[in-house]
Amino acid sequence: MDDPCDVGEEEIMSRNKQLTKSASRVRNQGEVFTPINFAMHIFQRWMKVSCRQPEDVFVDLQCGTGNLLKAVLLWKIENNLSKEDAFRTILGVDLLHDNVEDCRRQLLSTAGVEDVELFRLLVTQNIIQGDSVKNTVDELFCANMLPEK
Ligand SMILES: C[S@@+](CC[C@H](N)C(=O)[O-])C[C@H]1O[C@@H](n2cnc3c(N)ncnc32)[C@H](O)[C@@H]1O
Repeated sequence: MDDPCDVGEEEIMSRNKQLTKSASRVRNQGEVFTPINFAMHIFQRWMKVSCRQPEDVFVDLQCGTGNLLKAVLLWKIENNLSKEDAFRTILGVDLLHDNVEDCRRQLLSTAGVEDVELFRLLVTQNIIQGDSVKNTVDELFCANMLPEK
């Protein structure tokens, strides 16, 4: 894979514009997302020194709009996991509904499966709205059997 950091200044500026949603969200919640190129770079380095396998489940307990999970998804697919198994082994939680929706959309478009029912179902089950400070992973993903607010 090409080095995700090897991009021009214009591309970096354009990517960084997507790191915040509004000044009030930054002020009130400290909401600033991980730059995609940074997420991919760090993630790939980390995977090289860890013993993780592509089929291992990866959980982002504060997934935001999914920049880190996008890097995970690409890594899994590049390491020969099927798209279906990649989606089955990626879990994300975020407090805010719009971030959850954006994260689902980002993962679907990254894999080019926006219109495939199976993948839409998988992101609905695996990328969920919840409070990962107050709840355990087990509680969060069992609670997901309930309809979203
Ligand atoms: C720094 S951003 C996450 C960055 C993200 N991992 C990425 O790849 O860009 C922090 C996120 O944590 C979420 N968050 C804050 N408190 C949370 C909580 N208690 N449970 C779940 N998500 C939370 C916010 O809504 C925000 O989207």
